[in-house]
Amino acid sequence: MIADSTADTARRALPSSDLGLIGRSPAIQQVRETIRQVAPTDLPVLIEGESGTGKELVARAIHENSPRRNKQMFTVNCGAIPEGILESELFGHQRGAFTGAVESRKGYFELADGSTLFLDEIGDMPLSTQVKVLRVLEQKEFMRVGGSTYIRVDVRIVAATNKNLAQEVRDGRFRQDLYYRLNAVRIYLPPLRERPEDIPLLVDYFVRTFCVQNHIEFEGFTRDALEYMESLYWPGNVRELKNLIQTVIVLEKGRRIDRQILSRYVEDQWVEVESQFLPVPTKKSVDQAERELIYRVLLELKSDMNQIKQLLFSQYFSPRSLQPGRPPGLLQPVQPIEDVEPEEEIKTLEEMEKELILKALKKTNWSKRKAAQLLGISERTLYRKINEYHLQK
Ligand SMILES: Nc1ncnc2c1ncn2[C@@H]1O[C@H](COP(=O)(O)OP(=O)(O)OP(=O)(O)O)[C@@H](O)[C@H]1O
Ligand SMILES: [Mg+2]
Repeated sequence: MIADSTADTARRALPSSDLGLIGRSPAIQQVRETIRQVAPTDLPVLIEGESGTGKELVARAIHENSPRRNKQMFTVNCGAIPEGILESELFGHQRGAFTGAVESRKGYFELADGSTLFLDEIGDMPLSTQVKVLRVLEQKEFMRVGGSTYIRVDVRIVAATNKNLAQEVRDGRFRQDLYYRLNAVRIYLPPLRERPEDIPLLVDYFVRTFCVQNHIEFEGFTRDALEYMESLYWPGNVRELKNLIQTVIVLEKGRRIDRQILSRYVEDQWVEVESQFLPVPTKKSVDQAERELIYRVLLELKSDMNQIKQLLFSQYFSPRSLQPGRPPGLLQPVQPIEDVEPEEEIKTLEEMEKELILKALKKTNWSKRKAAQLLGISERTLYRKINEYHLQK
C-alpha cells in the first residue's frame, strides 16, 4: 500500500458542500459562508468559541479550501508550550542562542512557509511574543532567537481562542494592535446549547462515521433520547456530544437507546446547569409564547386591580373598629375610590412583564425551569427576558 502523503490527505479532505462542518443552524451556515469567502485569500482569521465548538475543524477547513492546501498546515498550541520556549518554537533559534541550543533549528514560521500556521489558544500567548507575531503579520519577516538577520516568509495565520479576546485586550493581557490585525476576519462558533437544531444532524453524522469505522451495528436513538440531547447544557460542546455517543453505542452494545438509558450516561452538571439556564425545546413559536405571556400579565393585572379596589372599598366603607390589627398609617388617608383612580400609576407593558417575571422567579426560588413553566413560556424566552431586563436575585 502506498504511504499516505500530505497531498493525498488534502485531496481526500477537499471541498465537500458542508466543508466537514455539520449543522443547519443559521450560525453554522454563516460560518460555512465566511469560510468559503476567506479561504482563498491570505487574510488572517480569528476563530472564537468555547472549548469543543469546532475551532480546529474550522481552521482545517480554511486551510484545505485555500490555495495552500497541498502543503501541510502546522499547529502550535500557544497555551501548552512553556513561556520560555514558545519563542524558539515559533521563530527557531541559532546555535548557541541559549544553553542547550547545540544546533540551529527552524521554528514553525519557517516550517509553515507557503502554508498555514494555526496558532491555537492565542489568548495564552505572552505579551512579549505577541509583539513578534505582529511583526511577522505586518512585515512578513522575523529573526530567529539569537539570530542577526531577518528571514522572510509567506505564512497565512489562523488563530483560535476560547477566551473573549476583546475582554483580554481591555484587561491588558492581549495587545490591541495584534487583536485588530487578527480580527480582520472573525469567526464565532456559538456553544452547542445555543443551536440545538444542529444536534440531530451531528448525532446522525457521529453515529454513521463511528459505526462504519468500527463495524458496529447500532439500532439507533429513540426520538425522546434525541429530544433529551437537545435540551442539555453541553459544557464541552460538540466534543462532549461526540464522546457521549461513542461511549453509549459501545457500552450498550449497539442496542436501541432511549432517554432513560441515555440519562445514565449524562453527567449531573449537564442537567443541573441546563435547568438553571437553557434551553428546553418548546413546540410554541416565540410569537405565540410572547402573546401568551402578555395575556397572562393582563389577567394578573386585572386581578390585582380588583384586589386594590376591594381593599380601598373596605377601608372606605368599613367601620374602623372592624380593622383592629391595621397599622394606623393605613387608616389615615381614606379617600373615595374616584379620587384614587386618576392618580394610579400607569405602567408600561414592559414594566408589567418585568414584574411578573420577577414574581415568578421569586415564587420558584429562581428555578428558571419552574418559572418558565409557571409563565407558560420556554426557558429560552425566559432567559432572554432576564438578560433584557437585567434581572438579578
Ligand atoms: N460542526 C461540526 N461538525 C462535525 N464535527 C464537529 C463539529 N464541531 C466540532 N466537531 C467535532 O468535535 C470535536 C471538537 O472539535 P474541535 O477540536 O475543532 O474543537 P475546539 O473548538 O478546537 O476545542 P478546544 O477549544 O477544546 O480545542 C472534534 O472531534 C470535531 O471534529
Ligand atoms: Mg482546539
